[in-house]
Amino acid sequence: MIIGLLNQKGGVGKTTLSVNLAASLAHTGARVLLLDVDPQGSALDWAAAREGKPLFPVVGLPRASVHKEIDQIGKDYDYIIIDGPPRVTDLARSAIMASDLILIPVQPSPYDIWAADEVVKLIEEAGIYKENLKSAFVVNRKIANTAIGRDVKEALSSYSVPVFTSSITQRVIFAEAAAQGKSVHEIDPQSSAALEIDAVKDELMGFIK
Ligand SMILES: Nc1ncnc2c1ncn2[C@@H]1O[C@H](COP(=O)(O)OP(=O)(O)OP(=O)(O)O)[C@@H](O)[C@H]1O
Ligand SMILES: [Mg+2]
Repeated sequence: MIIGLLNQKGGVGKTTLSVNLAASLAHTGARVLLLDVDPQGSALDWAAAREGKPLFPVVGLPRASVHKEIDQIGKDYDYIIIDGPPRVTDLARSAIMASDLILIPVQPSPYDIWAADEVVKLIEEAGIYKENLKSAFVVNRKIANTAIGRDVKEALSSYSVPVFTSSITQRVIFAEAAAQGKSVHEIDPQSSAALEIDAVKDELMGFIK
């Protein structure tokens, strides 16, 4: 199963969700590979910041041929998480074509909701070639108890892409964990952040059944 975290909007949480969802899947005992398709190499930087044994391998592949190479690269894994690039490029198209499911992180801001039309268009284009391609929005950086946090799901309903019920709140632990090349589970497995990541992981697994 190949899950692409894609959104041409920068800074929405593609890398943050990629590393933490990969960690959450790895905790279930699954064999997980994280593919860094972003030329910025943020997931690779995350892995490099770590001391000690990696939770899962992280491989850099910022090439527009990723959809052609993925079968070979991913053959020994149960889940491959693709951390996608910002901007609409051949890289983003290739990452979409490589995926079985696209998860689109969006922040609860009108600008992010408007900007999501670009990635939705790319997914629709890819759907012509890939009939079974699935996609869903996941809200990231929700600010607890704000109206915008609640309204975002309604605003996103104008797109044909479903919105996950589970979402991720804005929490400093995500940056603290990233600075050490760790997942939020490793900082505190009972933290709200880890529980929210696990809820997104569970919804994801239900979605792809
Ligand atoms: N839920 C969250 N709570 C707090 N900080 C967050 C959260 N999600 C992301 N961030 C922070 O926001 C910044 C951008 O996140 P991230 O790098 O994951 O986005 P991205 O979509 O991968 O960006 P890019 O488009 O540059 O690849 C980072 O500093 C990250 O630590
Ligand atoms: Mg990133």
